[in-house]
Amino acid sequence: MNAQTTQGELPLVLVADDKKNMVRLMAKVLQPDARVCTASGGTEALRIVENEPVDVVLSDLRMPDMDGIELLKRCKEIRPQVQFILMTAYASTLTAIEALRLGAYDYLTKPFEPEEARAIVLRAIGRAAASRSEPLGGDSREEILPGTIARSDAMRELGSLVRRVAQSDATTLILGETGTGKELVARAIHALSPRARGHFVPVNCATIPVDLLESELFGYVKGSFTGATVDRAGLFEQADQGTLFLDEIAEMRFSLQAKLTRALEERAIRRLGEGAERAIDTRIVTATHRDIESMVSAETFRADLWYRLNVAVVRIPPLRERREDVELLAAHFLRERAPAYRQQIIGFTRAAVAAMNEYDWPGNVRQLRAAVERACVVSTHERIDVGDLPPEVVGLEPRESGMARLADLSWAEAGEQGRIMTARSYLEEVLRRHEGQVSDAASHAGVERESFYRLLRRFGVDPNPHRGQK
Ligand SMILES: Nc1ncnc2c1ncn2[C@@H]1O[C@H](COP(=O)(O)OP(=O)(O)OP(=O)(O)O)[C@@H](O)[C@H]1O
Ligand SMILES: [Mg+2]
Repeated sequence: MNAQTTQGELPLVLVADDKKNMVRLMAKVLQPDARVCTASGGTEALRIVENEPVDVVLSDLRMPDMDGIELLKRCKEIRPQVQFILMTAYASTLTAIEALRLGAYDYLTKPFEPEEARAIVLRAIGRAAASRSEPLGGDSREEILPGTIARSDAMRELGSLVRRVAQSDATTLILGETGTGKELVARAIHALSPRARGHFVPVNCATIPVDLLESELFGYVKGSFTGATVDRAGLFEQADQGTLFLDEIAEMRFSLQAKLTRALEERAIRRLGEGAERAIDTRIVTATHRDIESMVSAETFRADLWYRLNVAVVRIPPLRERREDVELLAAHFLRERAPAYRQQIIGFTRAAVAAMNEYDWPGNVRQLRAAVERACVVSTHERIDVGDLPPEVVGLEPRESGMARLADLSWAEAGEQGRIMTARSYLEEVLRRHEGQVSDAASHAGVERESFYRLLRRFGVDPNPHRGQK
């Protein structure tokens, strides 16, 4: 290992790339905020991750001995809390999205500005620090499950339920409104289960095109359809000995639901175009934000599948029903986020806490996180104040409050805040018009789909609440 500086307390970033100038550039940009060590290939990178307290891995997609995706999977197995950032060329953005699906923190498209890289790595460091350190107040009991912060009684009970469910191997259904932490809980179930050494394979049934989902899940043999040029194992097989997480299960097409039911009954699958069945040893965890019980009554979701999926049910309460968690979570996200910004933000004013406690958070924890992140950007004080929170949280009409607040700022600050507000309103309106369909929204906006995703993440806009409503 080639540590460029030796201060023990600084976060450790591993740059894996076979190009020396990239490594040098990153080491320079990250100083003095992080120690940087380097690996010229995947094998060396893995050895370092195994032996050193690496917080963030920044890896090239293409390396001679291993590609970045493989490195990502193996890093996550060795050190689940490691934050992984993939560097890709423009042409491989599909792979970048695959990386996010596999748990990468973010990706950088080459060529990138050093400042952009720096900001992303610092954010990842913040995330790593938050998952390592204890919540504010130093009480580690407030991490009820890996990565899940809460202090309300409802969530503590949920924590112990999830631990029991994790041990059981039962097919598990996670219910909860958007942004309540369903995916976090699914990951915790896997991590706390006897299958933790196997793969956790997440599949979002809402974002994979309907026609692809079947072959993604079950795999196919060469020649079974146009484009099937090789044999391919499906996600069921990839999750062998592990956990398959079928997210947004309510969006699965009816005909595919029948196939899934059969696979669960038989504990076997058949690749598309193949005669023989293959036994599978996979635990199934599913999630939905929909009222799936009503869908079963309305016969838009198959009852036989429903009975198989709800062997164990975990219901995550919305944030407004556990307001004790709001301040704790806000502090957690602040700590995670603040290191990425140069200014020292140490907390919230009492008025800001009161406003957050009052608000109903229809987008739940995800919305709270986005609100805190934006507040970090706009706040010019030591403590985040009411005026730094999004207008909907404070209970004012956007225009009115926006203008009043802008006028309190300097020209430069107002410009920055105005830009953020405009971008966000724009993205939300475009998504609303396209019913949350990101591809359509992106083409409306005249940008690539993946760039659009990046904008959504940057401005904390969630496409989900816009789905299916006009
Ligand atoms: N209790 C928690 N502690 C820390 N972070 C949380 C908690 N709950 C949710 N989050 C964060 O909030 C965001 C949303 O969580 P997650 O993606 O698990 O929600 P979800 O229920 O799957 O949402 P959706 O239905 O929209 O897919 C994530 O960034 C997650 O890390
Ligand atoms: Mg989810």
